[in-house]
Amino acid sequence: MQFFLDSAHVKEIAYAIDAFQIDGVTTNPRHIQASGKPFMTVIREIASLVEGTPKTVSVEVNPHFTTYEEMLPEAEKLAAISPNFVIKLQCIEPSFKVIEALARKNIRVNCTLIFSAMQALQAMRSGAYYISPFVGWKEANGEETRALVEDIVTIRDNYDFETQIIVAAVRNARQIVDSAVAGADIVTAGLAVYQEGFQHPYTLDGIQKFCQFWDATPYE
Ligand code: E4P
Repeated sequence: MQFFLDSAHVKEIAYAIDAFQIDGVTTNPRHIQASGKPFMTVIREIASLVEGTPKTVSVEVNPHFTTYEEMLPEAEKLAAISPNFVIKLQCIEPSFKVIEALARKNIRVNCTLIFSAMQALQAMRSGAYYISPFVGWKEANGEETRALVEDIVTIRDNYDFETQIIVAAVRNARQIVDSAVAGADIVTAGLAVYQEGFQHPYTLDGIQKFCQFWDATPYE
């Protein structure tokens, strides 16, 4: 399973690549705004971080763009900036024709803001390279998401779609493990979610105990 960092903080991304081999980056308008930099500046900085690697960076088209005529040229413009870029398009009906047109030009699309298996199915039919079901947003509203991810993986496998499934808006280690068990290809989460998941109180307790034994034992 691949781990992507959901962030537009260049230092944070550089740290996660170095410290635990992050495989790719996803951004969205919220992350870009939080970076404190203009959109074009920050996406170019992230592109230079991953230059020459197979790591993808998902970059979102202006969410105000909702027509084929608006989305297509902007997607092409962003894709031309870096071969690492995968263009994020929101899961609305006009996007499906754009996804298909971009796929024919070998421009990869991450179909984002997916909340149902039906949306996922159509995005896969259109030729999306990635689809991003947002589990955290659904769970924040008390909705179950394990079955959603399982259904999407089953549908993808039933029809041999080449689309990779990014379980997105991941908030905790349990959602990461559930996604791995379901057979999702990728999860994307913030740095703190990974760091909290790598820790366990028993590990810290064990280190403390072993340190005591170590200190009570001569080295030679
Ligand atoms: C995924 O690609 C999205 O950027 C992300 O997971 C959205 O969720 P968040 O911004 O609420 O974390």
